[in-house]
Amino acid sequence: MKKFSRIRLGVNIDHVATLRNARGTFYPDPLQMVKILENLDVDGITLHLREDRRHIIDSDLSRIVKVSRLPINLEMAATKEMQDIAIKFAPNAVCLVPEKREERTTEGGLDVVKEEKNLKLFLKPLLEKKIKISLFVSPDLEQIKTASRVGASVVELNTGTFCDLLLENKKDEYEKELENIKKSADFGKSLGLEIHGGHGLTYESVRFIGAIPQMSELNIGHFIISQSIFDGIKNTIYKMRQEIDKAQNK
Ligand code: PXP
Repeated sequence: MKKFSRIRLGVNIDHVATLRNARGTFYPDPLQMVKILENLDVDGITLHLREDRRHIIDSDLSRIVKVSRLPINLEMAATKEMQDIAIKFAPNAVCLVPEKREERTTEGGLDVVKEEKNLKLFLKPLLEKKIKISLFVSPDLEQIKTASRVGASVVELNTGTFCDLLLENKKDEYEKELENIKKSADFGKSLGLEIHGGHGLTYESVRFIGAIPQMSELNIGHFIISQSIFDGIKNTIYKMRQEIDKAQNK
């Protein structure tokens, strides 16, 4: 019997835009992907508007926010430019992530402890707009406690390290990291936070992360878009959903 409600699946569509931008064309259009996902077993759309606009661009965000029937989770860095954009488009949720120009993808979580004062100020106008705030953090109790203090209602636990260790088959290390994620999920939930997970998730790693009872949402991008090249997006979502449901009901 399920102890908690079904884990929501958020699909990160950044890499549809990566493919489009590789040729500087108009296709594949991330909005077309949103329209397809609306008819599949998906609960939300995540997109990351990066400072360098390497995948999602401003017009993607404005077109998608206008027409999407699925809730939009905007990933962004805590900069003034992004704050203005979030206020203008008022997505359902904002997930703050650290951003470095030279990185290939988000590396590590936000240092909420170091940035506590700035984050509190940064989040104020977003909270006034009733945007749900999520902070992408490492599975670290101090970071989670501070996230709750600055006004976030969600922490998205970085599953990237765990997923990398699992891929490399480093059993002792991935088991240790999984323990960190479990403890963090339990601690965050005890503070009244909603617990999300994301980064690097695949059919295999989701079997571990989806089994954590406090998880209420998983945001998955690169693997889903990659796998859909071979199997199509419909089959990929179907299989990912099956893996999450199986993990949750174990
Ligand atoms: N969650 C956050 C906060 C992220 O930064 C990313 C990557 O943009 C994802 C989830 C999705 O990660 P992946 O593309 O590896 O599934």
